[in-house]
Amino acid sequence: MTLCNIGILWNTYHKAELVQQALKKTLSDMQLEYLDLYLIHWPFAFKEGGDLMPKDENDRFILSDVDYVETWKAMEKCVELGLTKSIGVSNFNSEQIQQLLKVATVKPVTNQVECHPYLTQNKLIAFCKERDIVITAYCPLGSPNSIANAESPAPLKDPKIQELAKKYNKSPAQIVLRYLIQHGTVPIPKSSNKKRLQENIDIFNFELSEQDVAAIDSLNRNARICTLNYNIHVRSLINVLCDLMLHTEPTEIYRRSIVNYRHSTTTHSTTDAAQHTQLQTQHHNTPNYKHSTKALQQ
Ligand SMILES: NC(=O)c1ccc[n+]([C@@H]2O[C@H](COP(=O)([O-])OP(=O)(O)OC[C@H]3O[C@@H](n4cnc5c(N)ncnc54)[C@H](OP(=O)(O)O)[C@@H]3O)[C@@H](O)[C@H]2O)c1
Repeated sequence: MTLCNIGILWNTYHKAELVQQALKKTLSDMQLEYLDLYLIHWPFAFKEGGDLMPKDENDRFILSDVDYVETWKAMEKCVELGLTKSIGVSNFNSEQIQQLLKVATVKPVTNQVECHPYLTQNKLIAFCKERDIVITAYCPLGSPNSIANAESPAPLKDPKIQELAKKYNKSPAQIVLRYLIQHGTVPIPKSSNKKRLQENIDIFNFELSEQDVAAIDSLNRNARICTLNYNIHVRSLINVLCDLMLHTEPTEIYRRSIVNYRHSTTTHSTTDAAQHTQLQTQHHNTPNYKHSTKALQQ
């Protein structure tokens, strides 16, 4: 088995001059000379500095006006310097990828996004496939034991998944992972249990029928576990809505936020869009936002 060393650039290090610094710190921590793959974690930048989750007095993230295109150019420099073999992105929507591709001299090899039977990402998968970008599927099992997910529906317990597990004589996790493989994604299930680690890799000796893949596709309900701001207090969401009503044209901004967010991975629910309104509206003057809204006007 080949070991692949992957690192991920956090939101407070998006400025060009900080990218190399962050990667070198990762290399030093991991005692490596280079990574195989380095990713931009999110298409949003946070205020630079020591605090990794900088928030204002209203518990809202403090954003930084760094364009992810600038970050991408710095990532390319890391490839040139031999600090990483490949570079990619995470949590990017189709529009943001499009923006990168316009300027990229090194293409992103992957886009790591949440993907499981309740968030199938079929349109984003197709979009990336056309551009030769592999989708890495995170939370592929629906992150069953995550605290953030305590009240979320669990794909592994879905009656259809359970039925298919019986039909193929496999575990529900194996059915889900096989489904993701057949969609051409690279699922990255996490397990700290040796038996489950083995189970999760034992998925290359069977194939789901086209009908069964379609049946799992139909389970999609746009349910997102990882929204980055899952830990934002409800109060801050109310603040955002108040800000919108006081200082902006709420309907327009809200519409653009939702449409932009839907546009992002094409399968988001309205609830998710509302949760993302904070980031989107705070971000509306940044180049990232302009990239997105430009597409919406087309
Ligand atoms: N790029 C991003 O923004 C981002 C965001 C979130 C997550 N990720 C990455 O995605 C990876 C997976 O995410 P995740 O851990 O949240 O979700 P996940 O892989 O869907 O779920 C992991 C959970 O499932 C359990 N599990 C593993 N195999 C199982 C099996 N065969 N049957 C039943 N339960 C099983 C694990 O428990 P046991 O350990 O007890 O087996 C663990 O609690 C992680 O490496 C994470 O770093 C990336």
